[in-house]
Amino acid sequence: MDFSGTLSILLAICITCWLLLPTRRKKNWSHLPPGPTPVPLLGNMLQVEVKELIKSLRKLSETYGPIYTFHLGSRPCVVLSGYKVLKEALIDKAEEFSGRGDFPAVQMWSHGNGIVYGTGERWRQLRRFAISTFKNFGMGKRSMEERIKEEAQYLVSEFRKTEGKPFDPTFFLSCAGSNIICTLVFGERFEYTDEKFLTLLNLINSNWKLMSSTWGQLLFTFPKIMRHVPGPHRQIYKNYLKLAAFVGEQLKMHQELLDPNNPRDFIDCFLIKIQQEKNNPTTHFNDETMSKTTVNLFFAGTETVSSTLRYGLRILLRHPEIEEKLHEEIDRVIGPHRSPCMEDRSRMPYTDAVLHEIQRFADIVPMGVPHTVTRDIQFRGYTLPKGSGSVWARAWPSWSCLSSSRPSCRTSPSGPWWHPRRSTSRPSPAAWGASRGPTSSASFPAEPHPGCPPRSAPQ
Ligand code: HEM
Repeated sequence: MDFSGTLSILLAICITCWLLLPTRRKKNWSHLPPGPTPVPLLGNMLQVEVKELIKSLRKLSETYGPIYTFHLGSRPCVVLSGYKVLKEALIDKAEEFSGRGDFPAVQMWSHGNGIVYGTGERWRQLRRFAISTFKNFGMGKRSMEERIKEEAQYLVSEFRKTEGKPFDPTFFLSCAGSNIICTLVFGERFEYTDEKFLTLLNLINSNWKLMSSTWGQLLFTFPKIMRHVPGPHRQIYKNYLKLAAFVGEQLKMHQELLDPNNPRDFIDCFLIKIQQEKNNPTTHFNDETMSKTTVNLFFAGTETVSSTLRYGLRILLRHPEIEEKLHEEIDRVIGPHRSPCMEDRSRMPYTDAVLHEIQRFADIVPMGVPHTVTRDIQFRGYTLPKGSGSVWARAWPSWSCLSSSRPSCRTSPSGPWWHPRRSTSRPSPAAWGASRGPTSSASFPAEPHPGCPPRSAPQ
C-alpha cells in the first residue's frame, strides 16, 4: 500500500478514535500554560513544519513566551524555551522534572525499563549503578582513557590507508565510537570488518533514521494508532529486539566466564550485582533490567559520539582559521611524538572550548528526550499535572563564540560526561550544561559575550 493510501486509512481510524475518546484528560490539563489553539485530533501539527519542528517551536515561543503548551496530536506537551526557564525547571526543580516523557518508538520495546526511558526508583538505582561502574572502570587497571587511545590508533590507521585522497569518514567514525562503548560494556572491541559488529551498527543507524523519518514522527504524534498501522516505523521495534538478542548472547557468554573477583566490563559488574542482591525480594537488578540497560548504553553511546565527531570535522572544514589555531595549540602542548591524554586538557583551553562549542552547535539530538513531572507541581503560575504528557526543554542556542579571539570566549567549564537528567544530588549549572551536550546551552553564557558574532549555520 502506498503512503497516501495508508495515510487515508490512518486518518479514518484517527477520526473514529477521536469521536469515541472520553474527555477526562481535559480536567487534569486545564491549568496548563496557554499556547496555539489546537484542532481536534491533529493538535497543533498544522501550525508547524513537521520536518523543521525545532524551528517552528522556537518561532511559537516568540509569540507565547518561554513556557507554552503545544498539542502533539491530542497529547498536550509543555514546551520550555530558553535558558532561564530551563534552569528553573531542570536544575532548581530537578527532582520534580526528572520523569521521562512519552517516547513511543522506544517504549514499545522498553516498557519504561532501563536507564534512558526508565523512571522512579528503578531508574534511580540503575543510573547510580551505571555511573559508579563507569567511574570504577575509569580508574581501574585498564582505564577508559587507554581504551579510547587504543581505538583512536585503529581509526588513524584506517584514515592513513586512504593515502591523502578524499574519503567519507562516516563509517570509520561509527566503528570507532561504537567500539569504545563495546569495550566498556562487552569487554571487547570488534574489527571494522566483523559481520556481527556491522549488523549491530546497521540496526542502530537504521533506528536513528527511522525515528527521524516521517513515519517516526507519525508514531511520535499518534502512538496509539500508529502501533497498529503497517509501515516502516514498525521496524524500530524489530531492530530493538535484534539488538536485545545480541546483548542476550553476550550475557550468556559472560555468565559462563564470570570471575566475581575480576570483573572485566559493565556486564560482569551487573552480574555480580545480581548475585549480591539475589536475596532481596524488591531488587531491581535482574536479567531483564541488565539487558535493557546494556542496550540503552550501546544505543545512546554509539551514534551520538560518531555524529558529533563527524559534525566536528565538517565544522572545521568550514572554519580553517579555527583549525589552524587548534593545530597551533596541539603542536605546542602535545607535539608530534605522543598521543594526547586527559592531563593535556587543562593546558589546552582553546581546544577544550572548540569541542564544547562543536557539541552545542552540532545539536545532534535537537528535540532532546522528553521529560515529565513526577508529581503535580506549580510552575511559573501554572499547574503541571503528573501523569500523561511531556515536557520539552530547549535552550535555543543562538550565538557563537567559536570565532572569537576574546579570552573569555575561549574557556569553557569542564564537567562530567554523564547526563544529569535527574540527579539525586543537584549538579552545578556548569556540570549540567557540559554533560547535557547539545540540547542545553547552560554551560555557555546566558547571553553572548559582548562583541561575539551571532551564530551562523554551517553551509
Ligand atoms: C556527544 C555524545 C552524546 C550526546 C549528544 C548525548 C545526548 C543525550 C541526551 C540529549 C540525553 C537526554 C538527557 C535528558 O534526559 O534530558 C541523553 C541521555 C543519556 N545518554 Fe547520552 N549523549 C551522548 C553520549 C552518550 C554516551 C557515550 C553514553 C553511554 C555510554 C550515553 C548514555 C546516555 C544515557 C544512559 C542517558 C539517559 C540518562 C538518564 O535518563 O538518566 N550518552 N544523552
